[in-house]
Amino acid sequence: MGVKKTLKKIWNKISSSDRILVTGGLGYIGSHTVVELMEAGYDVYIIDNLSNSNIDVLNGIEAITGKRPVFENIDCTDYVAMDKFFSKYEGFKAVIHFAAYKAVGESVSKPLRYYRNNILSLVNLLELMPIHKTHGFVFSSSCTVYGQPDTLPVDERSPIKPALSPYGSTKQMSEQIILDAVHASEDLHAVLLRYFNPIGAHPTSAIGELPNGVPNNLVPFVCQTAAGMHKKLKVFGDDYNTPDGTCIRDYISVVDLAKAHVKAIDRLLDEKVKKPEIYNIGTGKGQSVMEVIKTFEKVSGKRVPYEIVGRREGDIEQVWANPALANKKLKWVAEESFEDTLRSAWRWQEVVNKNSK
Ligand code: UD1
Repeated sequence: MGVKKTLKKIWNKISSSDRILVTGGLGYIGSHTVVELMEAGYDVYIIDNLSNSNIDVLNGIEAITGKRPVFENIDCTDYVAMDKFFSKYEGFKAVIHFAAYKAVGESVSKPLRYYRNNILSLVNLLELMPIHKTHGFVFSSSCTVYGQPDTLPVDERSPIKPALSPYGSTKQMSEQIILDAVHASEDLHAVLLRYFNPIGAHPTSAIGELPNGVPNNLVPFVCQTAAGMHKKLKVFGDDYNTPDGTCIRDYISVVDLAKAHVKAIDRLLDEKVKKPEIYNIGTGKGQSVMEVIKTFEKVSGKRVPYEIVGRREGDIEQVWANPALANKKLKWVAEESFEDTLRSAWRWQEVVNKNSK
């Protein structure tokens, strides 16, 4: 731990620490962010409606940090319950808003569910924050807003492309809603983080991803296949215009991604965010589906049986980040190697399997 981090921790212990609200704080990215915030000395409060998370995650957070954050089971679409929560605890310096639905396929079949949940939650928060004198906001956005970018790596000035799913639309709309709300307000300050593909788990294996049912995302499916839970992984297309024909993504360690949120909060609380700031949070490197499989096999020592099938509708051929702006302004950089991140994903899968026996 650096001297600065240690001093901050000590200072926060002797002073009253800054209180941060994390919505969706028991989810995959939320829980890793809660841990990093607590380790940086912040006083973290969680609300989560457990729609895609598990109460046991609190034990994992406590095992890592030695402290149990305040948690309440609240749905962010419930304005009255949210208002009561803000009144009960008062004094949040900032909110990190993760609570949202994220399954692309499901959003196509249940679009209104996605619009209601993702948009209403956001509007409630943005309305309640000024009433309760909370001025800092960090939003969980996605590289999905770029669609298939015209140039790679993609930077934050790249145009927003028409969304390919209602899920993607909710991210684009949410970004616009935040920009409009900040524009109309004197004292609302926002940082929007566009995540690339988060993977892996905390190095302690006390928290990680807990997919609901059969995972849609590549790495959890790879892990479960290696664990014998699926016969074969389906590789969606090998006829793309990429070196090995499979799609390319920027896979980032969820711990590195979590740390980017701490940097965003530091920056908000240091009053450095004058206008809304948007950052790509990625490694700057792309890996193909075949590279994921091969590297996973190498680091886990497990075989991942796979078959090539047709393309998945709505998939983007290739996208990876230019994270230079986040590197410079947030003073954040993705540190964990691709190998180590896949290793942590596999270790977590082994823990999940052991616990389910
Ligand atoms: C997807 C969403 C993205 C969202 C993210 C959230 C799409 C088009 N994009 O990202 O908007 O923010 O999830 O988690 O759905 N793959 C296989 N076999 C599988 C699963 C995936 O070959 O069983 C391939 C996909 O074709 C893709 C890559 O693996 O090329 C990564 O897929 P995935 O993990 O689902 O992430 P994205 O599609 O990038």
